[in-house]
Amino acid sequence: MNINELTDTAKTLVAGGKGLLAMDESNPTCHKRFAALEIPQTPELRRAWRELIITTPQLGSCISGAILFDETIRDRLKDGTPFVKATTDAGIIPGIKVDAGTRELAGHPGEKITEGLDGLRDRLLEYAQMGARFAKWRAVITLVDQLPSIGCLEADAHALARYAALCQEAGLVPVVEPEVLMEGAHTLEQCEEVTERVLRVVFEQLSNQRVLLEGMILKPNMVLPGLACPQQEVAEEVAEATVRCLLRVVPAAVPGIAFLSGGQPDELASARLNAMNVRFKGRLPWEVTFSFSRAIQQPALDSWRGQAASVVAAQKVLLHRARCNRAAHRGEYQTEGGLEVPLAEDGDRAA
Ligand code: G3H
Repeated sequence: MNINELTDTAKTLVAGGKGLLAMDESNPTCHKRFAALEIPQTPELRRAWRELIITTPQLGSCISGAILFDETIRDRLKDGTPFVKATTDAGIIPGIKVDAGTRELAGHPGEKITEGLDGLRDRLLEYAQMGARFAKWRAVITLVDQLPSIGCLEADAHALARYAALCQEAGLVPVVEPEVLMEGAHTLEQCEEVTERVLRVVFEQLSNQRVLLEGMILKPNMVLPGLACPQQEVAEEVAEATVRCLLRVVPAAVPGIAFLSGGQPDELASARLNAMNVRFKGRLPWEVTFSFSRAIQQPALDSWRGQAASVVAAQKVLLHRARCNRAAHRGEYQTEGGLEVPLAEDGDRAA
C-alpha cells in the first residue's frame, strides 16, 4: 500500500467542487433503463451510451472520477480508443465497480448481502494494471418493519471492510457504499436512526480491518423520508438531518463523502446537496459531494433514446447536470420558484 498515493487520489476525487459519476450499471440494470425508453438492449447500444457519456466535451471540468463497469473498462470506443484512455484523456480518473451484486442473505428473509469477495485480490490487481485508481462496492440495506437486522448490518459491513482493505493493498481507493434504500413509508427520523446505526457498524468494521481512513471515500445515502412517506421534508431539513447524522459517525480523517442519488429526482438531489454545502459552509471536516448515477445520467438518456442524431443534444443535457452538481458541491446551485437558475456559460453561477 502506498499511503501517499492513496491519500492523494482520495483527496483529488473530492476536490475542486467536482464529484464522481457512477456509470457502472450492470448489463441487466442498463437494459432495464433502456427498456423503459424502448431503446434496443444490445451490446452495441450499451457501448454507444457509455461512449456518449465519456466523450461529453468538458465533462472533466465537473467530474473527477468515473466508476466503470467490468464490460466498459475492457471495451473500446468506436474509433478503437480504450475506454480507460478516453477517460483519462478527459481528465477523469477511472474507477471500477468490483462487487458482484446482491443475493438474499441466508436466514434473513427480506435482506440482501453483497457478494464478490472470492478472487477479489486478483481482480483488483488486474483492474489496477488496466489503469483503475479507485473502486466501488455497494451494500443495500432495507428499512422496513423490524429491518435491518444486526446480522445483515454486520455481514454487509464486514464485506465492505474486507473489500476496502483489499483495495488499499492493491493501491486503489475504496469507495465504500452502504445504501439505505428509499423504498418504503419510513420517516426522515427513522432513516436518520438507521443510517447512523449502519455507519457506526461500517466504521467499526473498517477499523477492525485496518482500513486507512485518509485513503477512502464514503458513499452513503442522504437521510430522506421513504418514497411512500406522506411527509416529505424540504431540502434544508434533509440537509440538517443528513449532516447531523454524518457528523456523529464519520471520522474527520475521511477526506470526502460522495452521495448516491438513490432514485431522487435529479434537481432535488442537486438542491439537497447544495443545501448541505450552504448551511454548513466552512464547518464540515470532509468534502461533501456527489457520486450520482441516475441523477446525472437519466435526463441525458431520456434525450438520447438510442438515436445517433441525438448524441450532441444528450451530451449537453449530461454536462448541464454535471455542472449543476458541481455548483451544488460549491453551495452555488440556485433555484427560483422550483426552477433552476441558469448557470453561466462556463458552468459557474450566473452573475
Ligand atoms: O450503485 C449505485 C450507484 O453507485 C449510484 O446510483 O445515484 O442512481 O443511486 P444512483
